[in-house]
This record gives sequence, C-alpha cells and structure tokens, in this order.
Amino acid sequence: MAVRSIVLANQKGGVGKTTTAIHLAHGLCLAGHRVVLFDLDPQGNATVAVQGMSATQDPDVEMEGLIHIAPGLWLLPSAGDSSTLARNASIDVVRLKELVSRLDGRADWLVVDCPPRMDEWGWAGVQIAEHVVVPVQAEFFAMHGLSQMLASLEAASAEFPGRAKLRGVLPTMVDAREAVALEILNDLRANLSDRLLKTVIVRDANLVEAASFGKTVFQHCPDSKSALCYAELVKELIDG
Ligand SMILES: Nc1ncnc2c1ncn2[C@@H]1O[C@H](COP(=O)(O)OP(=O)(O)O)[C@@H](O)[C@H]1O
Ligand SMILES: [Mg+2]
Repeated sequence: MAVRSIVLANQKGGVGKTTTAIHLAHGLCLAGHRVVLFDLDPQGNATVAVQGMSATQDPDVEMEGLIHIAPGLWLLPSAGDSSTLARNASIDVVRLKELVSRLDGRADWLVVDCPPRMDEWGWAGVQIAEHVVVPVQAEFFAMHGLSQMLASLEAASAEFPGRAKLRGVLPTMVDAREAVALEILNDLRANLSDRLLKTVIVRDANLVEAASFGKTVFQHCPDSKSALCYAELVKELIDG
C-alpha cells in the first residue's frame, strides 16, 4: 500500500504547524498506524519535541535513514540550521523523494513539518506530500495572507501532479471562552466553505505544558480538550 502523506504548511510562524505535526504523528500511531515524521524545519522543533518519546531501539523495525522514536513512529530529523551548522548544507529534494518512495508498504502515514516560512524547505515539503493541511491561528485578519498561500498551493498542485493538494485549513488556538472566536470561525467558513476542516483545535495551556515535558498531550493529559481535538483531527484525516 502506498503511504498516505500530509504536510503542515503555512507561510506564517507560530500558527501551530509543529504542534499539529507532532500530535498528528503520535495520534495516527496510537490509532495503530505506522507513521514517519519528517522534520524539514532547520530549527528542528519537532525533532527536539519527539526525542523525549524515544523508545528502546528494536533492530526489527529499523528504517534506513530514519530514527526509531517509539513503537510505530520514525523520524527524519531536522538537517539543522544551515546558517549556524553546515554553511553548505543544501536541500536535496531528490533524496527526500527517494526516502518517501521507499516508505510504500513499510509505513502507513508520512507527516511532514515545515519551517515557519515557505522557503525551499517548505516548498520541498509541499511537493513530497499528497495532501496539505494549513493551520491558521484563529484571530482577526486570519484570512489575511491565507488567500495568497492557498493560491500558491493551487499553482503547486498543478505543477506537481498527485502532490500538494489542499486537504484543508485547520483553525488552531481557538479560545472557546471568547465570543469573537465563533465570529472568526464563521468568517473562515464563509470564505473557505469546504476548504475548512471540520475539526477545530482549541487554545489549551496543556499543550505548552506537555511540550515542556517533551510529551504530547496524549501522554501528558489524555483527557484534556486539546487531546480530544487532535484525536478528532486524526479521525477526520483517516476517514479521508
Ligand atoms: N492549541 C494551542 N493552544 C495553546 N498553545 C499552543 C497551541 N498550539 C500551539 N501552541 C503554542 O504556540 C507556540 C507556536 O506553536 P508551533 O506549533 O511551534 O507553531 P509553528 O510550528 O507554526 O511555528 C508554541 O509555543 C506552542 O506550544
Ligand atoms: Mg514549527
């Protein structure tokens, strides 16, 4: 079976891409799928975040070029910040595509985390994955910049057949206690209609706390609202 792939992308930083990538990867894994997480952000936030989940190495489940993180979860770690580490480190899209093609039959899902800006790493992520999920912080002006991102994605999906198709926009950090939150969601729905995912991720301090312990909310506080939201996202994406 071909691996199903999802990339988290947005040209804006701090919108919940990495948080979503980690929870999507772990959530799919908890649902019994074999998951590979690619960290394409040279800053390596996702790489650091999942290291705490490290399991004992099991030689039976080794995948070439990937780190085994936990049962059913593998990581392609960040290449590191090229401005501070290896100045000549450049992105090798051919190698990435080769890694992806080798996942067929060995992994069920590939989740790709992108850097804050849509630089060469970001666009590489988009062209190696079938579907794109665009996390958007639920705030006024959320649509600002999003239209441009969606137009660029449309151009990319035409350029790379079978890749970079928009799966949906995901509202994140929705503050359920604020009346404006509903207004913002309505605004997004009016502008995006079926391009908006059904799942909404609430603002939840447990996510920040879990991250400080190097854990996901599924491990740290499985009954929290954000754990329920991310479980819902996993289900929505599995169901296609
Ligand atoms: N739903 C949420 N509720 C509260 N804090 C969140 C939520 N999602 C992300 N965060 C926090 O916001 C910050 C930015 O999130 P992150 O996932 O790193 O964004 P990005 O990868 O898009 O830059 C992090 O400190 C993260 O812990
Ligand atoms: Mg990030």
